[in-house]
Amino acid sequence: MRKVCSPRCCKLARVMGSIQILLGGLVILVSITSLFRFYSAGFFMHDEDICKHFYGVRDSYSGFDTKALSDRVEEVLMKMATLQDQLESTVQKIDKDGRGSIDKSEYKKFLEDEVIQPLYSAHISLRQIRLPKVQETRNASTPSVEDPLINSFVVEEIRKYITAKTNRVGKVNIYGTEKIYNTIGHACVLMKEDLEEYMNYDIGSYCKDDWPLAQKLMINGCDPLPRRRCLTRASKLYLRPYSINESLWKLPDGRNVRWANYQCRNFECLEAKNPKRGYTKCSGCFEMEKEKIKWMGNSSTPNAPTFRISDVLEVKPGEIRIGLDFGIGTGTFAARMREQNVTIISTALNLGAPFNEMIALRGLLPLYVTLNQRLPFFDNTMDLIHTIGFLDGWIDLQLMDFILFDWDRILRPGGLLWVDRFFCKKTELDDFMYMFLQFRYKKHKWVISPKSKDEVYLSALLEKPPRSL
Ligand SMILES: *[C@@H]1O[C@H](CO)[C@@H](O)[C@H](O)[C@H]1NC(C)=O
Ligand SMILES: *[C@@H]1O[C@H](CO)[C@@H](O)[C@H](O)[C@H]1NC(C)=O
Ligand SMILES: *[C@@H]1O[C@H](CO)[C@@H](O)[C@H](O)[C@H]1NC(C)=O
Ligand SMILES: *[C@@H]1O[C@H](CO)[C@@H](O)[C@H](O)[C@H]1NC(C)=O
Repeated sequence: MRKVCSPRCCKLARVMGSIQILLGGLVILVSITSLFRFYSAGFFMHDEDICKHFYGVRDSYSGFDTKALSDRVEEVLMKMATLQDQLESTVQKIDKDGRGSIDKSEYKKFLEDEVIQPLYSAHISLRQIRLPKVQETRNASTPSVEDPLINSFVVEEIRKYITAKTNRVGKVNIYGTEKIYNTIGHACVLMKEDLEEYMNYDIGSYCKDDWPLAQKLMINGCDPLPRRRCLTRASKLYLRPYSINESLWKLPDGRNVRWANYQCRNFECLEAKNPKRGYTKCSGCFEMEKEKIKWMGNSSTPNAPTFRISDVLEVKPGEIRIGLDFGIGTGTFAARMREQNVTIISTALNLGAPFNEMIALRGLLPLYVTLNQRLPFFDNTMDLIHTIGFLDGWIDLQLMDFILFDWDRILRPGGLLWVDRFFCKKTELDDFMYMFLQFRYKKHKWVISPKSKDEVYLSALLEKPPRSL
């Protein structure tokens, strides 16, 4: 009997111990808050009273988010109350079960799952409560302001990430600033749950294979995403990529890609004409035979106005050296341009297929960006921007305006904007034409042709004028 009894007694003792820790936590909580006069509000008021009180004191802590604090406090209290309930019900259950057999592993699991984890999370939440800094009187001209987003998040790793990192010992860094802000997209706040799942990992261990979650966050405006401190997974064995004289036009080795999150499990499946390839945009983009004829003069879509690469380069002989291909594809445009000694960066999102990996395995440069972000290039630097396959009439005009102005920014004077088979409703053509024409680029080519009964294609080659102001 002793064998059974001793862990049980021990367990009860530990349970009581845990409850004591809990109460200790509560005491700490109450005393911290009392320091800042929140105590007078009383935690035993109803929610509304607390809110009212917290909002009432807002003036005396300007710049500090009291609502967020009260949310955090409430969260901790809830966590502790839940834990207490669980512990109590477990104790009752133990009593009822009488001399049930609690073996060690079961006991350990109980402690880990039901006690240590919740206690830890309550502990973390407590630590994360940022109290208003006592305003230092030294300099009123540089008030220390709480980071605006910090109290929107509970998960410690997110908070660590977005907290500005001050240089060591008050030095100014090479950029001439005193601290570095890690940025996140503001829509991260709207997708808090997804972001918290994304940022929930053990530092230094392997990340989950969760790039679809990351991409979902990015596409929905949580962009830039926070960096993470976990190791990204790779394919089981990574074979040496083909050398560049082969890689441009050869379907890559599928073993260099992690396929777990796709419908297809190899490149051959993406190339085959099966209806379940998992991607719809850019159908046929993995069919190398089809890719090989693009921009070479033999259009696969006879109606659509396509220009040949050679004709476009002819407009500015020898001048086009670097550029951006903004669209959806497997890098074929960049491959053809590479053959002309032009370096093209291709934007790519993994929409149902490994577009980024494909481009990289071909020996070309994929740029993993969404439409949300200002492009990471400096003003007046690019010789060429080619765009195909994503603007297509669904896009909000104002969003498009911001994008086009950004393209205009990075294009150098004399640089070319190649709008490739843009399509929209016939009735909306005027709006879109205005969008492209507002920059007063020189028209080298401008072709409009019908796509269907009420849709039209527009292809254009435009040159940015000099702007010597
Ligand atoms: C406060 O800041 C101003 C400029 O930012 C500086 O000239 C002044 O010396 C500072 N005062 C103190 C007390 O540090
Ligand atoms: C590619 O280049 C390497 C050396 O750079 C050469 O050994 C190989 O035969 C070439 N392959 C093809 C298909 O031309
Ligand atoms: C285009 O097609 C014609 C006839 O089908 C063919 O003779 C020609 O070589 C093709 N051109 C290219 C660049 O593939
Ligand atoms: C590209 O550059 C190489 C090496 O400088 C040269 O041999 C080749 O003719 C160039 N190709 C084109 C299309 O200009």
